[in-house]
Amino acid sequence: MCGTDILAAKPTIENPKGAGVSCSPEPHVLLNLDQGDPMAFEPYWRKMGDKCTVVIKGSELMSYLSDRRKVCWFLETELEEAIKRLHSVIGNAVVDGRHIVVGTGSTQLYQAALYALASPGGPDPISVVCAAPYYSQYQEETNYLRSGLYKWAGDAHAFSGKDGPFIEVVTSPNNPDGSIRKAVVNGPSGHQGKLIHDLAYYWPHYTPITSPADHDIMTFTFSKSTGHAGSRIGWALVKDEEVARKMTKFIEYSSIGVSKDSQHRVAKIMGVICNGCQDFKSDHNLENFFEFGRCLMAERWETLRQVVAKNGVFDLPKFPTEYCLFNGDFAESRPAFAWLKCNGDREDCEQFLKDHKIMSRGGGRFGSDPRFSRVSMLSSDEVFEQFLNRQAIFTKYSCLGELGGSSYKIARDEYTKQLWMTVMDGAYAPFHSLNVYVWIDSQHLHNFEVADAPNLNYLGVTLLQRHTWDTPTCLLHQILI
Ligand SMILES: Cc1ncc(COP(=O)(O)O)c(C=O)c1O
Repeated sequence: MCGTDILAAKPTIENPKGAGVSCSPEPHVLLNLDQGDPMAFEPYWRKMGDKCTVVIKGSELMSYLSDRRKVCWFLETELEEAIKRLHSVIGNAVVDGRHIVVGTGSTQLYQAALYALASPGGPDPISVVCAAPYYSQYQEETNYLRSGLYKWAGDAHAFSGKDGPFIEVVTSPNNPDGSIRKAVVNGPSGHQGKLIHDLAYYWPHYTPITSPADHDIMTFTFSKSTGHAGSRIGWALVKDEEVARKMTKFIEYSSIGVSKDSQHRVAKIMGVICNGCQDFKSDHNLENFFEFGRCLMAERWETLRQVVAKNGVFDLPKFPTEYCLFNGDFAESRPAFAWLKCNGDREDCEQFLKDHKIMSRGGGRFGSDPRFSRVSMLSSDEVFEQFLNRQAIFTKYSCLGELGGSSYKIARDEYTKQLWMTVMDGAYAPFHSLNVYVWIDSQHLHNFEVADAPNLNYLGVTLLQRHTWDTPTCLLHQILI
């Protein structure tokens, strides 16, 4: 099922034909896996060609208004219909009897929901909590305006419902760790506080769809469902009309509505997705976006687990197998982020990755332990492949040494079989460019490749600093491989 031509070609902007994508690792290149920028799905949309093209004439979509009769008066009818159709095709949320509020990304809807649930407000701001590890932006988005209506109160596990009124955010599947979640705080006499369910990742390429979600406020985002983060469209399904009205009011105050151009683009793309799902659902064709995404994510998780098992540096979360109503089979979650935990005595996972020029987001930002760090699984194919290759560099083969006072690290790149030296001030270089000789059995080898000596147990490395070329200062380092 997975692995047909659409995956094999892996086209990118730089390489539109997708042929011969180079996997050569470049350890000096900074890999940004901090943000969850969903470029992984670009090859699919490239393959769709003009199917999603939207043309808007200069005279069209000019008004602020869409339909005054609706609670959300700036929601375009085309988008409303497309959202309803998408949820009914996927089966991931109840839409009947719900009010749809569109937002500039689900980021705006989160703030709109806080405003709606907290207003008109009392003498003290209402506490906003979420079970740690929680999506790092909640804290910043909740606090940055220093609202008198609500305030961030951190980890829901550490919050007692007796501490006063609260809003609990439930992110499921969770960012950063991919877990499936329920509310954790019980208020007085077992009552829950007001709940916001952030279902950004409740789509079949990330996790099995086990039932249609049915909560008071559910937020979704186009950014993570299809990868079109740049369109900045999110939507909320809201049970209570008054809450939907207040959310709409918040968006009116903050941006007087949401781009109609974007709404039409999104409606068009949702239609193409639904057609793809309905036409091809039965035979698992990769024309079906969610089938493409499922295969891509499954392949990425499988290779990441293999690399991580081999290098022994990290632990990864495990996920239960569940029956997916959409795909009609049993599967594990394939989250949009990998929540890496450093093994052994490494205390700061983000720093450890940074030393290898990999930008991630450390556990502290998610209300968790710094031994964890989050890396995106949604980068472009090139970046993801480099990430896997980069991991081979910090395998158990690496070791530390000193050269003329500065620390260095020597490692074998499993992919190219070359030796690399990392000077700990951050510079990376292949051996030959730092004038490093490697010798085995008294024989000097320049530009040495481990592949030349597959049965090798020890390597002697002679390091000559450029400016001390005539008089080598540091002569020998042994590497156990
Ligand atoms: C859990 C969660 N909610 C909301 C968002 C924000 O999405 P949007 O791009 O729609 O603002 C993200 C983005 O990473 C997310 O991970």
